[in-house]
Amino acid sequence: MEPVAGEHYHKQMIGMLEAIWGEGFLSPGGPEEVARLVAGTDFAGKSVLDIGCGAGGIDLALVKNHGAGYVCGIDVEDTVLSHARALIAREGLGQRIGCLKVAPGPLPFPPASFDIVFSKDSIVHIPDKAALMAEVFRVLKPGGRFVASDWLIGVDGPPSPEMAAYIAAEGLDFGMASPGRYRAAMKLAGFEEIEVVSRNAWYRQQARTELDRLKGPVGAAAAKIVGQAFVEENIGIWSRMIPVLDSGEHCPTHLKGRKPD
Ligand SMILES: C[S@@+](CC[C@H](N)C(=O)[O-])C[C@H]1O[C@@H](n2cnc3c(N)ncnc32)[C@H](O)[C@@H]1O
Repeated sequence: MEPVAGEHYHKQMIGMLEAIWGEGFLSPGGPEEVARLVAGTDFAGKSVLDIGCGAGGIDLALVKNHGAGYVCGIDVEDTVLSHARALIAREGLGQRIGCLKVAPGPLPFPPASFDIVFSKDSIVHIPDKAALMAEVFRVLKPGGRFVASDWLIGVDGPPSPEMAAYIAAEGLDFGMASPGRYRAAMKLAGFEEIEVVSRNAWYRQQARTELDRLKGPVGAAAAKIVGQAFVEENIGIWSRMIPVLDSGEHCPTHLKGRKPD
């Protein structure tokens, strides 16, 4: 596939992230972190919207490991969606998982469409958290659950020079917000039973392992697919990320809420 202009998660990026995080995964932790995130929420037979489904690994895990009845994965980029569709077809799960291209903005679904709205490390790309949470609330059925992981910033306002350097190195369209802003957005939308749980301590350690693997055999194998220069670029990103994980300014977080009956 030719590179698509303006895409952040192009083929080379997908190849790099899969080398670090596993087939179909564009975020850390693989099926184990998905399992930790969904613990306590019953996905069996449920209709699930996955915002920012990426390359398909998450949706396969939700169906294969957690029994989701039907997952509708939405994303704004074609290349990740093609990758996801190919993985889903290979697993023979086309009847249980659909992938839809959407434009940023209001969710293209009627009110009360889903039992669960899920998202893994994608809302960071959506700057208006209040507008998004209002939309999530609208498309959930009464009693429905919001279950997400995302990359948050410790406090709102200008990032530290170290955080600014890390965000610039990523080169992605991050629109990061603090735990307080997420909580306020969920409350304003109408959610109850709101939970905001930092995953910084876990990812701070995990990222070190990832960097070691990138500098070792994983990086060498990835270089054959994505090129040595791109591996080096990513070693630079991870090296900038670890200090801002250590300072707590970069805080991966689990977010949950319930729409009242
Ligand atoms: C870090 S990746 C995570 C993908 C997947 N959830 C995973 O964990 O493997 C972020 C994804 O969000 C998508 N994205 C960015 N802006 C979006 C938006 N406004 N609506 C839906 N998806 C979006 C990107 O294209 C990308 O696939």
